[in-house]
Amino acid sequence: MFYLCRRMKYDSEIQKRRTFAIISHPDAGKTTLTEKFLLFGGAIQVAGAVKSNKIKKHATSDFMEIERQRGISVATSVMSFQYKDKLINLLDTPGHKDFAEDTYRTLTAVDSVVLVVDSVKGVEEQTRKLMEVCRMRDTPVIVFINKLDRDGKIPFDLLDEIEKELNIHLHPLSWPINMGKDFKGVYNLYDKSLLLFNPNQKATDEDIVPLEDLYDEQLDELVGEKDANQLREDVDLIQGVYGDFDPQPYLEGKSAPVFFGSAINNFGVKELLDTFIRIAPPPRDLETTKREISVHEDKFSGFIFKIHANLDPRHRDRIAFLRVCSGKFERNKYFHHVRLDKDVRFSNPYSFMAREKDVIEEAFPGDVVGLFDTGNFKIGDTLTEGEDFYFTGIPSFSPEIFKEVINKDPMKTKQLEKGLLQLTDEGVAQLFTQHGGNRKIIGCVGELQFEVIQYRLLQEYGASVQFNSLPFYKACWITCADKKKMDDFIRFKTSNVVTDKDGHLVYLAQSEWYLNTEMNNNPDIKFHFTSEINK
Ligand code: G4P
Repeated sequence: MFYLCRRMKYDSEIQKRRTFAIISHPDAGKTTLTEKFLLFGGAIQVAGAVKSNKIKKHATSDFMEIERQRGISVATSVMSFQYKDKLINLLDTPGHKDFAEDTYRTLTAVDSVVLVVDSVKGVEEQTRKLMEVCRMRDTPVIVFINKLDRDGKIPFDLLDEIEKELNIHLHPLSWPINMGKDFKGVYNLYDKSLLLFNPNQKATDEDIVPLEDLYDEQLDELVGEKDANQLREDVDLIQGVYGDFDPQPYLEGKSAPVFFGSAINNFGVKELLDTFIRIAPPPRDLETTKREISVHEDKFSGFIFKIHANLDPRHRDRIAFLRVCSGKFERNKYFHHVRLDKDVRFSNPYSFMAREKDVIEEAFPGDVVGLFDTGNFKIGDTLTEGEDFYFTGIPSFSPEIFKEVINKDPMKTKQLEKGLLQLTDEGVAQLFTQHGGNRKIIGCVGELQFEVIQYRLLQEYGASVQFNSLPFYKACWITCADKKKMDDFIRFKTSNVVTDKDGHLVYLAQSEWYLNTEMNNNPDIKFHFTSEINK
């Protein structure tokens, strides 16, 4: 009986949780939308309480300033709030593109995402990349088309563009009546109701007009005959093309519901949030190197998806972000650190913003716990109650900038090697070693990371380095069933072949042309654009 009650409580904790991230190209409105969500959830009381983690343009060359801002954003890395009967964990993602790798990793720890697209700009570079990651994991996506109060692209054109560029089917669940200065509101196709826009006034539940039948004359009275007819025509077309909404393809990551609104005006945000809690998935079962782990299993398991190092010399600790996948995480209980094969416990597991206390006693699947770390963790590490496995589907992406590490102080070679290994364990950069040699190459997504690494190597390890730029643009992990063919390839391409930290072979390409040429000339060699951290 006791077991049954505990079981039911545990299952209801899981069912309550919705863990997700809001993603967008910088400036599309992610911070604004996040803030509106938190206002609805009562996690903050006033607008402006969420510090934008966007790095302001003037600060892009000053990484200490950036770190200071990132420091602020640790507190808001996970924003938990209650909305209606759901407990929402909103995982923040960095706004600066040089920290894109952090964002990709965060996406491995969420169960769904809300993608914000600027109606004026449409699909942008970061949108594409982020969606690629979602597609790799079949993450369910809801699209929010923002800034309807501005003159943007025609909604049907936007849908076409998003479908084509992001390679996903869309299903509009709301539809705008004009945009820019003529914007009158949105019709909610899911609830069959109309929400009218008033730029000077916050929309409330009273502003929602139920409108089952669009041919009701009330529509003409509310928006005028011309716009009423246009809406009828648009909605007929949408229904003809898309039919009724079926949540299944959304849950499988094949189709994305679309909402229109204006985050800054808090318009269309509540509809988005209300639908989100109805259709977004609770924590799901996950694949590991050994077996599928059911979220309902009694035994605890979780993995580290992000490590935040503190650059402040007075607080050298790191925070490892643990996503709970099954069972219950408990403070002071011993868990098994699979990679190190040792038992560890945490006396001060850290809860992020918006919970009553800083230290948490327990956490359930879908929750994220901050663990103070002195260098024991790397991305992808798994904690269990004894079983040995790693969660899969945590990818490493190709860096975009490559530089050779030049050791300026040979007396500190040991410290340098240790520093390089530890810093790259945090996942901000990747370390490669010349195949059959000792040259060390660092690959990053952004220039800033090199400054950060140089600074930290000196401050934390006493190692002084300089970086020499290398003319590569992409790293591809290479495999081949035929050993001889691989050996030949390595021999001919010595200066392009390196190994990653796990000893996997990697080809560094100078340009797309070189890469295509090698792929054509070596059909037996497989070129992979991502690598699994836990194979
Ligand atoms: P991000 O986190 O995705 O980078 O975007 P953020 O929310 O910071 O929004 C980027 C800019 O777009 C901000 O203006 C914000 O006020 C504006 N914005 C957000 N939603 C809407 C909307 O629905 N309509 C319009 N017209 N603008 C919107 P900013 O001038 O860059 O910053 P701020 O000075 O307002 O903070």
